[in-house]
Parts: sequence; structure tokens; C-alpha cells
Amino acid sequence: MLLEVRSLCVRYDEKSEPAVRDVSFSLDDGEILGLVGESGSGKSAAARAIMGLLPADAAVTGQVLFDGADLTAVSDKERRKYLGSEIGMVFQEPLSAMDPLMRVGRQVEETLRIHASMSAAERKARALEALAMAGLPEPGAVYRAYPHMLSGGMLQRAMIAAAIAAGPRLLILDEPTTALDVTVQAQILNLLKTLNETQHIAMLFISHDLGVVRKICPGVAVMQKGEIVETGETQVVFQSPQHPYTKLLLAAKEG
Ligand SMILES: Nc1ncnc2c1ncn2[C@@H]1O[C@H](COP(=O)(O)OP(=O)(O)OP(=O)(O)O)[C@@H](O)[C@H]1O
Ligand SMILES: [Mg+2]
Repeated sequence: MLLEVRSLCVRYDEKSEPAVRDVSFSLDDGEILGLVGESGSGKSAAARAIMGLLPADAAVTGQVLFDGADLTAVSDKERRKYLGSEIGMVFQEPLSAMDPLMRVGRQVEETLRIHASMSAAERKARALEALAMAGLPEPGAVYRAYPHMLSGGMLQRAMIAAAIAAGPRLLILDEPTTALDVTVQAQILNLLKTLNETQHIAMLFISHDLGVVRKICPGVAVMQKGEIVETGETQVVFQSPQHPYTKLLLAAKEG
């Protein structure tokens, strides 16, 4: 098992309700799992807990086993070794995730810096390769560009390039296509599918958009108020939802 999340609970502070309650799921090598649910259901909180990116005062219990190692128990230094190299991350807003003053290529190279043995030239070559893999037709031009010079779709491809540059086994994607128009959205989904098939990268794909999940995720977990209320093969869950909340989500989509 590549990723195994066991009884994950997240509480941002003592006064509020838990954002994630007793969430368990697992992901095999090369598998794509969709995580859906309405706004506020705890999808991002769960993803951040897996990556260890919650604010310091948030309380996390449970286990996040990546390749058998519990990421909730390792040191920050140890965790940083996993993030970027073994686990790549892609978020919703590519522009806000990037440093406006740093050339795109340098930002793609950032994840390669943990490989101390890599020379600057090797890093650059790998970044250009990743940009090409992310479907950018002119990797050299994108490498030299500043973020504001690129379209939203190109930026999201560059973010994906950064996420895959170090050859991760898992991508955690939090609403990766939500900020994009439908045409670009479809292109990015195709790119992710291709990366899954050719590089065998597993994906945890978070989205509130059931249509998008249906297109790319063979399996799905449905979250409501911090809990997973239903899980299974996407086709089956969408065709005959069992939980009232899943039925509601699907009905809302039809309407
Ligand atoms: N930084 C924070 N501090 C306190 N509470 C937070 C914080 N971020 C999120 N929450 C709360 O945690 C719960 C889960 O939020 P989360 O962002 O995980 O939802 P989500 O499913 O990702 O929603 P969306 O689809 O809008 O992104 C919500 O009740 C939210 O208000
Ligand atoms: Mg979210």
C-alpha cells in the first residue's frame, strides 16, 4: 500500500468542531482516488494533515502511512524529504502558489534542491524535462518567464511540472482545475491521466466538482462534515449512491 490514512482527526482549535473526523482510506501504487464533498467538508484539512502542512496549533491524531512510514510521527526535516520528492502537491490557485519575483524555472527546480548531489545544470535539465512532460510546448521560454507572463492554464501546467520534477510516487491535488475554464480544465485532466498512465503516479484528487471526479477517478470517497460517508468505485457510487448526502450531492449536480 502506498498511502494509508488511519483514523485521521484534525481540529484547528479547541473551541471549534473537528474539521476531519476519523477519516480512513488507502491508495495503491498508481491508483487515483477522488475526494469529494461540499465546501467546508474537510477535504483540504485532510490533505494538509497528510502533508503536515497545517498550522502549528492544529491538533492532528491518527496515522498517515506513506510506504509504511508514519508521516505524523517523523521530524519536520524527515517529512520535507518526502514532500516534493516522493509526494508532489498541486493547489487550486497557481498564481498565488508561485513567487511572483522568481522565474518559473527556478520554482520548478525548487523540489530538486533536496537532492544535494544534483548539479545546477542537472537541475535545469530536469526542470526543462518536467515542463515538457507537463505539456508546455516551449519549455525554455516558460523556464525563463515570470509567473505573471503565463496564462492560468500554462501556470497550472508549470505547477504540475514542479510537482513531478523529482519523480514522486504520489500527487496530492487540491482542486487543481477549479480556477480554470472548462477547455483548459479538460486539457489538464488529460495531462494528469497521461501522467498517471505513463509515470504510474498515484493521485489523491480533491474536488467539489463531481463531473471532474467522474472523468479521472476510478474510485471515490465522499466527505461530509469531516467524515467519509461513502466510498467505492466512482461509477457504482454515482449510479446508485447509498448515503443520503451522496444522493443530495448528485441531485444538486443534476439540477
Ligand atoms: N485555518 C483554519 N482555521 C480554522 N478553521 C479552519 C481553517 N481552515 C479551515 N477551517 C475549517 O475546517 C473545516 C474544513 O475546511 P476545509 O478547508 O478542509 O474544507 P474543504 O472541504 O476543503 O472546502 P472547500 O471545498 O471550500 O475547499 C471548515 O469548517 C473550515 O471552516
Ligand atoms: Mg478546500
